[in-house]
Amino acid sequence: MKALIASGGRGTRLRPITHTQNKHLIPVANKPILFYAIENALNAGIKDIAIVYNADSNDVPEYIGDGIERWGIKLTYIAQKTPGGLAEVVLLAEDFVGNDKFVFYLGDNMVVGGIEKFKKEFLNSNKNCWLTLSKVPDPNRFGVPEIKKGKIISIEEKPKKPKSDFAVTGMYFYDKNIFKACKSIKPSKRGELEISDAHQWLLENGFTIGYSEITGWWKDTGKPADLLEANRLVLDNISSSNNGKVDKKSKVLGKVIIEDGAIIKDSTIRGPVIVGKNCLIEGSYIGPFTAIGNNTQIKNSEVEYSIVLRDCKINNVGIRIEGSILGNDVEVVDANGKPRVHRFMIGDQSRIEIS
Ligand code: G1P
Repeated sequence: MKALIASGGRGTRLRPITHTQNKHLIPVANKPILFYAIENALNAGIKDIAIVYNADSNDVPEYIGDGIERWGIKLTYIAQKTPGGLAEVVLLAEDFVGNDKFVFYLGDNMVVGGIEKFKKEFLNSNKNCWLTLSKVPDPNRFGVPEIKKGKIISIEEKPKKPKSDFAVTGMYFYDKNIFKACKSIKPSKRGELEISDAHQWLLENGFTIGYSEITGWWKDTGKPADLLEANRLVLDNISSSNNGKVDKKSKVLGKVIIEDGAIIKDSTIRGPVIVGKNCLIEGSYIGPFTAIGNNTQIKNSEVEYSIVLRDCKINNVGIRIEGSILGNDVEVVDANGKPRVHRFMIGDQSRIEIS
């Protein structure tokens, strides 16, 4: 079995972070989202993995590399020239997949517990396609199945009136008939070859689709709140380790990872928290579900339930920073002197909330 991982798309709902960074490379608990997809495939015993990326940027191949050093496998990269939809992504991989069965995995989807269980269910089922479904409060954002007597009888993409409260999640298992389906469908109103239309084609042309329900946690990390929630969940499952230095005046409570070269002075860290390499945390409070990227400095400030990327500076901020995502190289510092002011230097499509 092979894996095809999608890492394209524009990540518009995660701007401004995605102006300068592919959304699949944004770290959750200090690890790029895309790593979780690759590692879930590997943990399911799948070693032949291709990644489809936007041809206009080499961010993904450059950042992830060939995979040999990190995972001991050689990754295949396939460029997508224009964003033509997920069914187009599948078609780009026809030569890579050949006659094998494969999992098509959207690189921004995160699932706890991996995909091995679903892979086995698919292989044991003899179905042409196996979908993974998750109950969601807002099915109109997703592909939605209609289910009768335990069988999927239709699938619609982002329907106004969803026929169930399930989302079709971004981990799809296929045999080679999916290529026939993707070649037979027409672009949707938004000009894309929709993966849901390919599934509907399979149903209408005598092919079989089975499914599993994901009863645990699953997220499409398309929005800031989803990223924070994914970060919370991954941090909830970490084990403590300390490769940095914690002085006697500091308190480190609960599950906390302190990476190489990080220094904690006169601070309280209440886990689950991860502090990246060479960070300096001084006179500060870092609260639960916070991930701090490498080389970040936090002084005389409080941060909780947040994702702070690398090389940031947070100094003397008088009110706790919470539920926030700070990109790379961001500074949040006190404005010196009088009058007391807020002073901003913010890029396009940023968002600031002040109380
Ligand atoms: C895509 C698919 C949709 C699926 C979702 C899962 O939506 O088109 O059918 O339910 O991924 O994450 P998109 O994220 O492109 O809006």
